[in-house]
Amino acid sequence: MDLGLKDKAIIVTGGGSNIGRAIVLAFAREGAKVMIGDIDVQQAEAVAAEAREAGAAAVDVAACDVTDLSQVQAMFKQTTDAFGGVDVLINNVGWDQLMFFTQTTPDLWEKIIRVNFVGVLNCTYTALAIMAPQNHGAIVSISSDASRQGEPREAVYGGMKAGINSFMKTIAKENGRNGIRCNVVCPGVTIPADDAEVGANSMWVNKDSMFTPEQLEKVAKSLPLKKIGRPEDVANAVVFLASSAAGHITGQVLSVSGGYSMIG
Ligand SMILES: NC(=O)c1ccc[n+]([C@@H]2O[C@H](COP(=O)([O-])OP(=O)(O)OC[C@H]3O[C@@H](n4cnc5c(N)ncnc54)[C@H](O)[C@@H]3O)[C@@H](O)[C@H]2O)c1
Repeated sequence: MDLGLKDKAIIVTGGGSNIGRAIVLAFAREGAKVMIGDIDVQQAEAVAAEAREAGAAAVDVAACDVTDLSQVQAMFKQTTDAFGGVDVLINNVGWDQLMFFTQTTPDLWEKIIRVNFVGVLNCTYTALAIMAPQNHGAIVSISSDASRQGEPREAVYGGMKAGINSFMKTIAKENGRNGIRCNVVCPGVTIPADDAEVGANSMWVNKDSMFTPEQLEKVAKSLPLKKIGRPEDVANAVVFLASSAAGHITGQVLSVSGGYSMIG
């Protein structure tokens, strides 16, 4: 199937690591032009080199903290200057530190709110200003199944991800008339195959602080599909929703989690 992504200009935030890296490489294989926006420039450059090998029409890296609107605006300008527009935005940046809510502090809440939610507002706001006049665009935001199921040790993060689900539905309704589709993908636990697939800022640098091997085994056993997700599983869903194959799909929230969530 032709996904219609050849030579399209795509921004992937947090594209240097794990799920973001797999998304960048999946778009590269479709022959797209990919801008990787990340605070970890070194890791983003390594993924950019892989993306060139994989067949991207063009690849560039923008040093960008998505919590800072002026840096986000600079990343979009760098993209329009280099690629002539922005066809697709993937809001992939996210971060959490797994703790019971009673153990957290307001400083931690602030960081989780800014990285997971304000970053999506900054990027979406800037993307819409470009996409509306060109009368087309697709935005896919990476949420989490923690937004659909109460998840112990992820209270504030799950709340922010639920905020993304709702925000994207409203943005889908407000901007459909401009040919802009907005969807959400909710991964479940998704682990890298190799340490080289994650950057220095990744949540997965210290894997055991996320899940011990015993916990991962229990998670796998509890899922209908009996296996933990891989970044490519999420990337496949993201590429589909960004593509012309999903041309009549907007405002949807899709779990890619081995059946952890089943929402009718
Ligand atoms: N991996 C999972 O199990 C899982 C499960 C559910 C949801 N998610 C979501 O999927 C997305 C990707 O997760 P991941 O596991 O690949 O994360 P990761 O921690 O491996 O990678 C995140 C990337 O974002 C970059 N980044 C962090 N803060 C940034 C900022 N302020 N500005 C720009 N870049 C920044 C990091 O440098 C890194 O390259 C996130 O939104 C996460 O919440 C992941």
